[in-house]
Amino acid sequence: MNDAPLGVFDSGIGGLTVARALFERLPHEAVLYFGDTARVPYGPKSPETVRRYSAEILAYLIGRGVKAVVVACNTSTAHALDHLRSRASVPVVGVIEPGARAAVAASRSGTIGVIGTVGTVASGAYERAIKALRPDATVVSAACPLFVPLVEEGWFDHPAAELIARDYLEPLRRSGVDVVVLGCTHYPLLKPLLQRVLGAGVQLIDSAEATAAQVVKELAARGLAASARPRPEHVFAVSDDEPRFRRVGERFLGERLKQVSVVPLG
Ligand code: DGL
Repeated sequence: MNDAPLGVFDSGIGGLTVARALFERLPHEAVLYFGDTARVPYGPKSPETVRRYSAEILAYLIGRGVKAVVVACNTSTAHALDHLRSRASVPVVGVIEPGARAAVAASRSGTIGVIGTVGTVASGAYERAIKALRPDATVVSAACPLFVPLVEEGWFDHPAAELIARDYLEPLRRSGVDVVVLGCTHYPLLKPLLQRVLGAGVQLIDSAEATAAQVVKELAARGLAASARPRPEHVFAVSDDEPRFRRVGERFLGERLKQVSVVPLG
């Protein structure tokens, strides 16, 4: 048993979809969430920059005594997971491997779609993870950079969002994928729209949920699960613009964010 908090970080607000999945699966775990709202977005930034930012956040979380770290950001996972693992004294779980595993398990045809930020798609990290599990898989990836601002504007079902989604997803539709991995923290909020555009025959894989399931396993295997306490206290910190994080974050988390502190890093 270990009642220290679980560190979760993201480039900003989106990782709250992962926090939400963790709260549902692990009701006894306390979470310390850090959102790098001063430096978001990570999607278009270079791998070196994303690695540097991610390492700073890791050091902050470890300094706060977390027992494990969940990299909720797909772009950070794509560029920095190995780097973070090599520096961390605690287990570090990313979102890509669990998402890839869930996609391979769900796909019948082996033609799998992946959507994410420009950085995640350019890194090829999902494709490598999928092919490591199923070497004969065909992976069709598409970067969807406009989805992040659309979601943050709350335009989940706006005609403009649909127009953009049709354009971005056309290569996936044409190649006949039967599974699409939502390889970005923000995309679970677009699920109904993406399902409509891709058609009912395509299964959407939520990396957030797959990651939460992986964290359950990891904590159990390492004897790090918390005791069965009723209401653990979660702590939220951001590097900037705490009012916006609270306002927009509620949509991602599905509940009110009472207190958020500002911790400038870097
Ligand atoms: N959190 C990022 C991800 O999952 C999306 C937002 C960003 O570009 O920073 O890739």
